[in-house]
Amino acid sequence: MRTRISTASPVTVLLFFCAAIQAQSAGPAVLTIHTDQTASKVSPTLYGLMTEEINHSYDGGLYAELIRNGTFRADWSGVNDWILVEDGNAEAKIGIDKTTGPSEALPYSMRIEVSQAGATSPAGVLNGGYWGIPLHPNTIYKGSFYAKEDSADVGPVTASLVANQSGKVLASAVVAGIGTDWKQYKFTLKTGAIEPSLENHLVLTVAHPGSLWLNLVSLFPPTYHDRVNGNRIDLMEKLAAMHPQFLRFPGGNYLEGDRLADWYNWKKTIGPRVDRPGHPSPWNYWSTDGLGLLEFFEWCEDLHMEPVLAVYAGYSLRGEHVNPGPDLEPYVQSALDEIEYATGSADTKWGAQRATDGHPKPFHITYVEIGNEDWFDRSGSYDARYAQFYKAIKEKYPDLQLIATAPIKGMTPDVLDEHYYLRATDFFHDATHYDKTDRSGPKIFVGEWATREGTPTPNMGAALGDAAWMTGLERNSDIIVMASYAPLLVNVSPNAMQWDTDLIGYDALRSYGSPSYYAQVMFAGHIGDETPVSSIENAGPRFFYSVTEDAARKKLYLKLVNATSDAQVVDIKLPGAKPAPEGKLISLSAHDPEATNTLEQPTAIVPAESALHGVTDSLHHRMPAYTIEVLELDLR
Ligand code: AHR
Repeated sequence: MRTRISTASPVTVLLFFCAAIQAQSAGPAVLTIHTDQTASKVSPTLYGLMTEEINHSYDGGLYAELIRNGTFRADWSGVNDWILVEDGNAEAKIGIDKTTGPSEALPYSMRIEVSQAGATSPAGVLNGGYWGIPLHPNTIYKGSFYAKEDSADVGPVTASLVANQSGKVLASAVVAGIGTDWKQYKFTLKTGAIEPSLENHLVLTVAHPGSLWLNLVSLFPPTYHDRVNGNRIDLMEKLAAMHPQFLRFPGGNYLEGDRLADWYNWKKTIGPRVDRPGHPSPWNYWSTDGLGLLEFFEWCEDLHMEPVLAVYAGYSLRGEHVNPGPDLEPYVQSALDEIEYATGSADTKWGAQRATDGHPKPFHITYVEIGNEDWFDRSGSYDARYAQFYKAIKEKYPDLQLIATAPIKGMTPDVLDEHYYLRATDFFHDATHYDKTDRSGPKIFVGEWATREGTPTPNMGAALGDAAWMTGLERNSDIIVMASYAPLLVNVSPNAMQWDTDLIGYDALRSYGSPSYYAQVMFAGHIGDETPVSSIENAGPRFFYSVTEDAARKKLYLKLVNATSDAQVVDIKLPGAKPAPEGKLISLSAHDPEATNTLEQPTAIVPAESALHGVTDSLHHRMPAYTIEVLELDLR
């Protein structure tokens, strides 16, 4: 290094020297926080989750079902994702039989016609799951299928988990006594001392000639909180770490469907799975509705989140709408029924249905959202559609807060849902967006937002954009009652994604949080109930901060965002405060805004926690480049 400088020209040396100084610091900013003066309140529900079926968020994602196309509805052929097995000299063929099925909702089935098979040459079908079937050592998998056979005794059915490459059988069970009428059969498969892997498949075979009909083939690993028909543990744990206060569901576009016929008809998503037909999602794949309305509420229960229930409001994505008035009535009634299903006691019609479905205890709801992004409805029908829903819902449920998805002419909605998908630079400029918003208008729900940089998951540059934006959300949380990043989940397997830049990535076996995910974890996990009066001087151009105080716990949470390539020194002044000498610093940092996490490198960028020593009412603090920090101080 010394040789290189001494051989350079004096000008080069000077430039190098200036650059080095600049890289060290952009000059001290002075941040003054008056911990004894409150500027505004912070909403207790500020941070939450927004979710919908997109990027295989549920099927092939959070919903733990391992069998893909278990109801033979994924495409026109029905047999997609299923492969015929003919071991040895076995002979068989498979096809969809539209004349028989286990229920009204599933009126068809897969027929396996076996003309030749034996104990050492079985025939049947295999399923490779959603980009693999993930298996862990010494683990119990619970399987089931609906089946019937013809008069020839084709059974028993052998269910096996098989490793793709070696063909080794990793677990196996025999299901005997298949009858000639439709019935559900259950089995369990237990793995031994195997390596965790997703390169496996499920095989169902028989050893005699004859016909076997199958539908609703299912296999579950252990689930979060051991819920039957439940969710994937690793993803639920990642969501729990975000400290979410609410869950907005079921969409998003998923609520609306492409066409009117495709709306999220919740009544078809409840009850036994065999009574759920599934439906086409607007994100171009079939939704099984295995994760249906009740499962959304149970998901809320598991993570202690407020349900923010979005009801279909008569507009679908390709521009069709239902006319307000009598045509809209069935949809309004459906929303009233849906609210009763969620909140009604077991002696109401729909509350009783919920009890029958396995959840006698009513759920609590504060917010109901009417539609999604209805500003897309160029017909202008939303004003009247919203008013019709509003009148009917408020009459029966006066305490509910009703969220509009676009401004309403002639009335102030309780809450307005606003969406922002921007680049990082836009969020840097827009971090003050709500600073001047009229406080006499509706409360705001930032129901979808994200810095869209990085794919399939956001990079560090995006996390900086997000963090800058979140400082504005916190500062303005007197009117912003809730905010949720979107989309939340993405299966990163080939062709599984429909929307670039999603918070949490996974395949069948592994999952990881993006830098933006960790920014959310840091912000939502360290927030008080009010913002104290504060001011900043001499900050660099892309430096942002937010400060909140937890009055009861006497904690001060200071978030700092340095989105430049230069370090930033901040003098933090707390006039009149007597902070404890020990504090905590949590830091998320990268050398390059392009840096990111992946399945292979899931923890390249994660928050690092350290102690802050010698804290007084005046701190001289240096922030590295491209860094997001939380300082947690005890005010005593
Ligand atoms: O989050 C992805 C999509 O963006 C949502 O479905 C929709 O509401 C918005 O346009």
